[in-house]
Amino acid sequence: MMKKGNLYYPAEEAKKKAWVKDKKIYSDALKDPVKFWEKLAKELFWFSPWKKGFEHKPPHFKWFLGGKTNITSNIFENNLAGWEKIKQKTALIWVPEPNNEKTRKVTYDALFKEVQKCANYLKKLGVKKGDRVGIYLPIIPEIVVAMLALARIGAVHCVVFSAFSPDALRIRLQDTGAKVLITADNYYRKGKIIDLEAQAREGVKQTKVKKVILIKRGRNNPWQKEKDFCPPRSMDSEDLQFILYTSGSTGKPKGCMHVCGGYLVQAYWTGKWIFDFHPQDIFWCTSDPGWITGHTYAIYSPLLNGIATLIYEGALDWPEPNKWAKIIDKHKVTIFYTAPTAIRMFKRYGGDVLSDNKFNYLRILGSVGEPIDESSWIWYFEKVGRKKCPILDTWWQTETGGILISSLPGLGPFRPAFTGLPFPGIKVGILDEKGLPALREGNLVILAPFAPGLLRGIYKDEERYMKTYWSQYPKGTYFTSDAALWGKDGLVRILGRVDDVIKVAGHRLATGELEEAVNSHPDITECAVIGIPDEIKGELPFVFAIYSGKRVKEEIEKEIIDLVRKKIGPIASPQKVFLVGDLPKTRSGKIMRRILKDIWLGKKLGDLSTLANPGSVNKLEDAIGNFKKSL
Ligand code: PRX
Repeated sequence: MMKKGNLYYPAEEAKKKAWVKDKKIYSDALKDPVKFWEKLAKELFWFSPWKKGFEHKPPHFKWFLGGKTNITSNIFENNLAGWEKIKQKTALIWVPEPNNEKTRKVTYDALFKEVQKCANYLKKLGVKKGDRVGIYLPIIPEIVVAMLALARIGAVHCVVFSAFSPDALRIRLQDTGAKVLITADNYYRKGKIIDLEAQAREGVKQTKVKKVILIKRGRNNPWQKEKDFCPPRSMDSEDLQFILYTSGSTGKPKGCMHVCGGYLVQAYWTGKWIFDFHPQDIFWCTSDPGWITGHTYAIYSPLLNGIATLIYEGALDWPEPNKWAKIIDKHKVTIFYTAPTAIRMFKRYGGDVLSDNKFNYLRILGSVGEPIDESSWIWYFEKVGRKKCPILDTWWQTETGGILISSLPGLGPFRPAFTGLPFPGIKVGILDEKGLPALREGNLVILAPFAPGLLRGIYKDEERYMKTYWSQYPKGTYFTSDAALWGKDGLVRILGRVDDVIKVAGHRLATGELEEAVNSHPDITECAVIGIPDEIKGELPFVFAIYSGKRVKEEIEKEIIDLVRKKIGPIASPQKVFLVGDLPKTRSGKIMRRILKDIWLGKKLGDLSTLANPGSVNKLEDAIGNFKKSL
């Protein structure tokens, strides 16, 4: 890497190897983005070609209309890399958490057979095209098999993160109407065995699930006896590929609908160009497949590109703080993709932790999920990347299906804390409240023709789809809910969410979701949850709840924490619960969450005269001040 001012450029050697070397690609693609994406799509395998590239009837849009394909055909028998060439290659490297358990390597051929067996098993159970099937699995090879098997037969996978609670699982299963759930008996996390089966049995209560497929970790699968041949189902470009739930402003999670054609094209090409996948690469994306990053970059994208993808069951710092670094060295990982929260944790453990590790094979590093601060970027670049690897700070969302903003490794430029340039063929804008190009910072939007992989809807909730993404600006402008600014070199910097979504250790949560959980406590009727900055986790949820009863406060606080863990999961666990007499409100009764955050941050509060109860502020200042002193 070469440094010029505060920009970094790829070294000549990296440039030579990269798939994209000429920056003309950006201007060419933008001349006619639809044509550009069609050209890319043509390289993939289709049973029959599309009749029309793009159709826009705001807010709805479609890509590759009338085209027929199947993502698993593109991964297996019709892989662009050539099936005969990749058949015997490693597709999946599974690293279990306990150090005394063996790594499992699965070839493309073996994975294909497993997928077809599982597909036949599902078919026998009556699972058909379009059926929604829940997956509640930890990071074990079977999660990959199950997802691909469902895709093979045209069923819709709805993966629920295994650390979500039974209540959270139930809400998602109810929304999808799934009749089948695929789950496992248990898994390891930080040395503990987690009883997933018990959680699943609890979660399927009051849902339509009739059949629970139970996978026994490390033992024979239920589909072992099935035939290992199952033809792919021909899928229309706009048929549902999967539903994945994510948090929005209100309590109820949103089921993002992704479709077969566009998702396939975006997953393949963004991986190829952004991570610069080459046949010998070993890619490790640390995200759990329960999140979109895991869907697209731990599974679909590397497999579509015919390379090896590594998945690791456990915590990155368990059993030793540099477990992640040991995995990189041991398995000769060439491309490593993780979240800033993990990078900050690695950095906190300090350089000593890395002294045994060489990172000789690493050539590209990625970051995703939250803004990465400059000092963590530099640390990642120097200590892990040894000043050789470009840092791809990739911006995207559950909704976008694949990365939309990131500089390309053969072109750059890279600048700490900036995500880089929009991917070729992607048009973004930064607008002010009125919809005019912002002078400095504003709201990040995506302009037509959007991206082939952008969500097509929120499952069973058209109104919310309209309201969340398409109503802030005039017709046909996708609102991301992120604030951003342009750097003078055309690079985009993401400033964070403008709605009530917070990121806790990279996990997307809505404060409204937490508030609903807190308000379900019999003694609480009103509360506010805010995200407080944290050095490692990015943000932590703090609860302010109105309580005037006589019970011991500590007890209520504990009950509230337990409730949030029960309703959402331990990842949402509040850092602190303040039981207060009142919360600052507007005259129309709206709680002013911003004031709570400003008090915490020690900001000047400005004019409080518009509040219905300005007296509430002093008491909160005292409570927060006392708590901070006690830290
Ligand atoms: O606020 C942005 C932030 O994560 C949000 C999307 O979260 P989720 O749907 O969970 O998907 C995360 C992984 C794709 C965005 O609206 N975000 C994502 N990537 C970045 C980011 N913020 C800053 N820099 C990024 N690279």
